[in-house]
Amino acid sequence: MDVEITADFRNELRSHFPALAGETIFLENAGGSQVPVQVADRIRDYLLESYVQLGAGYELSRRSTDLVNRAHDFVRLLMGGEGGEVILGSSASVLLQMLAECYSRVLKPGAEVIVAQTGHEANIGPWARLERFGIRTRWWEMNPRTFTCSLDQFQDLLSNKTALVAFPHVSNLLGEIVDVRAITNLAHEAGARVVVDGVAFAPHRAMHVSDWGVDWYVYSTYKVFGPHMAALWGRNDALEGLTGPNHFFIRDVPYQFELGGPSHEGCAGLLGLADYLEVAAGCGVDSDSGRSVVEQAFDVMTACERPLQARLLDYLRSKPTVRIVGPEDDGPDRVGTISFVHSEKSSRAIAEIVDRTQIAIRHGHMYAYRLCEALELEPEDGVVRVSLVHYNTPDEIEKLIEVLDRALD
Ligand SMILES: Cc1ncc(COP(=O)(O)O)c(C=O)c1O
Repeated sequence: MDVEITADFRNELRSHFPALAGETIFLENAGGSQVPVQVADRIRDYLLESYVQLGAGYELSRRSTDLVNRAHDFVRLLMGGEGGEVILGSSASVLLQMLAECYSRVLKPGAEVIVAQTGHEANIGPWARLERFGIRTRWWEMNPRTFTCSLDQFQDLLSNKTALVAFPHVSNLLGEIVDVRAITNLAHEAGARVVVDGVAFAPHRAMHVSDWGVDWYVYSTYKVFGPHMAALWGRNDALEGLTGPNHFFIRDVPYQFELGGPSHEGCAGLLGLADYLEVAAGCGVDSDSGRSVVEQAFDVMTACERPLQARLLDYLRSKPTVRIVGPEDDGPDRVGTISFVHSEKSSRAIAEIVDRTQIAIRHGHMYAYRLCEALELEPEDGVVRVSLVHYNTPDEIEKLIEVLDRALD
């Protein structure tokens, strides 16, 4: 779909995010995004109007139960998750740790888990720690020149011992979208399941988890304009092989995987995102909130982001002292999570100059610690990362460039 984004339309979208009316320029969105008023209103309304416990017979409780069920249904729609279930939790880190604990009870000593070095520690540590059960970690290393994990090396690692493959759809430092379908097909041919970290992908493109054929896919709802929660989608046959950590008498899926239950007000907020996506899709809030709205909304968001990331990459490429950590060029397989290092200055020194302005960016390893080590960067200093989403504007990028001009020289 070809979408033309006018300044008026950008402003219309921004007007739904009250935080954007302030002085801060939010370019640390890979850390967490702002929420539209539709999300905040639903949370407030839920807390003030129907803040009761689920599962009882009285009317308010029935309403709350229904709301939590609808939140799961909406997230499944958002993820394109026919043929599977959504497990909600407090963060992607918590959900992945929970998943690894479930697997620790079924994997046999000698089984292997392939783990991509480009991952966030949330999708590395839980798998590497399975070594205490005799499960071997095989490292899918990144080529530090190309910043990629090659399919050739992946094929060399795969064997009939491989039980699981854990990798990011997009690294939260590098910003490149990897070919999930190709990796998944190879893993499945070897009889392994895949656990895909979609946290850095989900704010930028529509998810199609069923079509990609993945077994598990996780993302953080608080980075996709929602409340501070996360969602893990599991394909039905993958879920059937596991027992969740909830009390022994709770066997329904997804609840057996939701120990303690998800945040109810958070679920209300998630439903508010459906309203915002209708706005972003250009449909108005009364239209049907189906899958086509989701896909259209993300096409619009991509169209908002691409010129901004292209401009920033152009600028960074023009600076001889700067090395972009990740793909140097804009393209359909790149998101606006842009990291770089300076040949003479520390990342901290650059971030500190930007911190004195109203522009929010960040430096460090962003929990992609092993990736920084592979790049021979001192992890605490790490990279400077600028991460934009659809609500950023060309003007904000120009303001950042003005400050970077001073910081980089
Ligand atoms: C790529 C990636 N994966 C996982 C996580 C962890 O997400 P959460 O904060 O929901 O645990 C993050 C958080 O920054 C991330 O960027």
